[in-house]
Amino acid sequence: MNLSVIGAGTMGNGIAHVFAQAGHDVTLVDLDHDRLGAARATIDKNLGRMVAKERITAEDQAATLDRLKAETDLVKGVANADLVVEAATENAELKARIFDQLDDAAPPTAILASNTSSISITQIAAATDRPEQVIGMHFFNPVPVMKLVEVVRGLATSDETYETVQTLAESLGKTPVEVNDAAGFVSNRVLMPMINEAIFCVQEGVATPEAVDTVMKLGMAHPMGPLTLADFIGLDVCLSIMEVLHRELGEDKYRPCPLLRKMVTAGRLGRKSGRGFYDYA
Ligand code: CAA
Repeated sequence: MNLSVIGAGTMGNGIAHVFAQAGHDVTLVDLDHDRLGAARATIDKNLGRMVAKERITAEDQAATLDRLKAETDLVKGVANADLVVEAATENAELKARIFDQLDDAAPPTAILASNTSSISITQIAAATDRPEQVIGMHFFNPVPVMKLVEVVRGLATSDETYETVQTLAESLGKTPVEVNDAAGFVSNRVLMPMINEAIFCVQEGVATPEAVDTVMKLGMAHPMGPLTLADFIGLDVCLSIMEVLHRELGEDKYRPCPLLRKMVTAGRLGRKSGRGFYDYA
């Protein structure tokens, strides 16, 4: 398949990596030339680790990189796409603008998927004239490691579109799980309130971040404690997902913790800013 990925951030480069490694031709599109270079270097480094562990050969690494093209022009980048995955910043207006452009620039038969973690697929699809070909394809960080793809059906998504995306996810060695369009889908509707509650525990002085994380790691066998995970995801992303849950589902149990809001306001966004619940300097 000819695949295009919009956005060369952490998720975009992970998605491009797994597509190319599974044998698909991939065009990674980003307005920022430097980000495209950084994404390619990250993919090369991650493939190199797999070669060192003898999971793939050096030839596989070279062939994967050969299948990966970079493009700064969205119109050119999706001109031959069978399927596009958008992995841009989590902002509803931005996504609507991108999908409007994709609808004009991608072939009429192309499927337009979004990696959104909380924005309504039905709403994104409404920016196009092909809502039956719009779907959520939600990957998890780090994409090359995490086995799940949450496949989200918008109100108009066709069975044919769903089946194509399900088969594609399986071709990557992932397990697709079908969910319907609702705020936060299943993953973030369950995960984010847990993270938010962990932050309330810190705010109320119930325990330190280290203690909260140790409880959840050793008591519940989570690979990372919720506050380490929040730093890994980005506290701004966690806040924006809690805001969507609170607004759309309307219940007080989804109210973002004031400490989360305060940390985002202060620029403590987690790993990416060097400081969140922990220091990464
Ligand atoms: N890219 C590629 N591979 C990576 C990687 C990365 N960024 N980070 C780690 N890996 C690989 C390592 O190479 C290693 O591979 P092998 O098993 O083949 O040796 C494997 O992952 C394990 O890594 P480590 O031994 O270094 O570290 P670990 O055992 O502590 O695992 C982890 C790291 C996989 C990130 C693990 O801590 C984990 O699963 N954490 C939870 C992650 C999670 O919940 N992600 C979902 C976040 S929510 C989301 O993404 C969606 C959303 O909408 C918010």
